[in-house]
Amino acid sequence: MLAIAILAAGKGTRMKSNLPKVLHHLAGKSLIDRVLSCTQRLRPNRRLIVVGHQANLVEDSLKNQQDLEFVLQQPQNGTGHAIQQLSSKLKGFNGELLVLNGDVPLLKEETLSSLLKFHKESNASVTFLTATLDSPTGYGRVLTDKSGLVKEIIEERDCTDEQRKNKLINAGIYCFDWQQLSDILNLLSSQNSQNELYLTDTISLLKKAIHFEIDDPFEIKGINDRYQLSECENYIQERLKSLWMSKGVSFIDPVSCSISEDSNFGIDIIIEPQTHLRGKCNIGNGCHLGPGSVITNSTLSENVLAIHSFINEATIGNNTSIGPFAHIRPESNISKNSKIGNFVEIKKSSIGEGTKINHLSYIGDSTLGKNINIGAGTITANFDGKNKHRTIIDDYSKTGANSVLVAPINIGSNVTIGAGSTISKDIPDKTLVVERSKAIIRTKNN
Ligand code: UD1
Ligand code: CA
Repeated sequence: MLAIAILAAGKGTRMKSNLPKVLHHLAGKSLIDRVLSCTQRLRPNRRLIVVGHQANLVEDSLKNQQDLEFVLQQPQNGTGHAIQQLSSKLKGFNGELLVLNGDVPLLKEETLSSLLKFHKESNASVTFLTATLDSPTGYGRVLTDKSGLVKEIIEERDCTDEQRKNKLINAGIYCFDWQQLSDILNLLSSQNSQNELYLTDTISLLKKAIHFEIDDPFEIKGINDRYQLSECENYIQERLKSLWMSKGVSFIDPVSCSISEDSNFGIDIIIEPQTHLRGKCNIGNGCHLGPGSVITNSTLSENVLAIHSFINEATIGNNTSIGPFAHIRPESNISKNSKIGNFVEIKKSSIGEGTKINHLSYIGDSTLGKNINIGAGTITANFDGKNKHRTIIDDYSKTGANSVLVAPINIGSNVTIGAGSTISKDIPDKTLVVERSKAIIRTKNN
């Protein structure tokens, strides 16, 4: 039997934040989400989350996850105190308890599997992850005897100068024999510099404590402050970008770009400086993104060009050119061979094949057919102060510069609208329409 407990009750004082630490994000995913996602394939029988500081925010953020048991720790009196709260929940439980820190987000599932395997083979009371770090600052130091058995973990602030030089650190990931742990849990004392009950003190109370040292120190990096958060972000970004470079994506200035783990790319894609992909994006072969574009939860087919533009929850067809300075908003679908030019905003609209909206327009709640030419400054007036209305324009129509189309409205196919017109009624196919007041021309006196 396997139970997993994730410690997520602490305030995260060093983050200096109103948000609980475990809800801070790394490459678009919260720390706690990341820790949870490496537990799934271990097939635990129970998953318990210890919450405390802003417990409801943490619980809320996980409401879509199944089979989680939340355990409240109030007040937060240390990591040992956090585990004491599990006693009644795990009464009678017989098996391993895997304890994960909610602020160690880069951990790999394979490492946890190896830890569990090693623990069972060694018949230990506890096995925990360690690493040898060049700069061990901030971590608990692990003291071993000559045979390699662990004697003690001492928190950095409780170390002597000599002990502090020890570079073997505690990663905060433990596999306990629950029965043995629960027998000694009440023996913890708070005689330390923080007056807290430390989980690390259970190590010297248990019969056989061993450690499992891992090679990649980044994997067990704990996040206590925003600097460490940014180090982890860089680490993830670096790995993601090199992966996609090896698969055919060029980054002109990779350091200035970020991509999300849930995005997918084809080949021969060029990503220019200051370009960011967020959420779940699918980017087809030959796309050229940036400089300066931000693309979120969107699908771009092949050879799409997007310069200095924001594209959010949209679908863009082949050979389409977006920007510079375009804003494509959610639920927009731009078909192939079209062009969305500078200072154009598209919202909840479908744009047909080969249609061009080249300059300074707002197209909202609209359905545009194919090969339409939208003149500079054309606006769909979609909002009457209360409700939103749709604009429909059929194939091959043209709007002149500064046209205002007052929705709800249907413009037929092959219609030409004269520049400066405000159109507020439906226009039939194959017509020319101009709505413009007469120019008054007078001779001036001076
Ligand atoms: C802890 C370890 C340290 C280890 C380091 C690894 C202890 C005493 N120290 O130190 O040896 O090197 O992790 O990253 O365990 N939490 C609770 N309730 C509490 C206090 C904390 O749930 O009362 C949670 C926090 O939300 C956090 C985790 O436990 O997710 C670790 O707490 P933190 O205060 O960051 O411990 P460290 O000082 O980093
Ligand atoms: Ca920590």
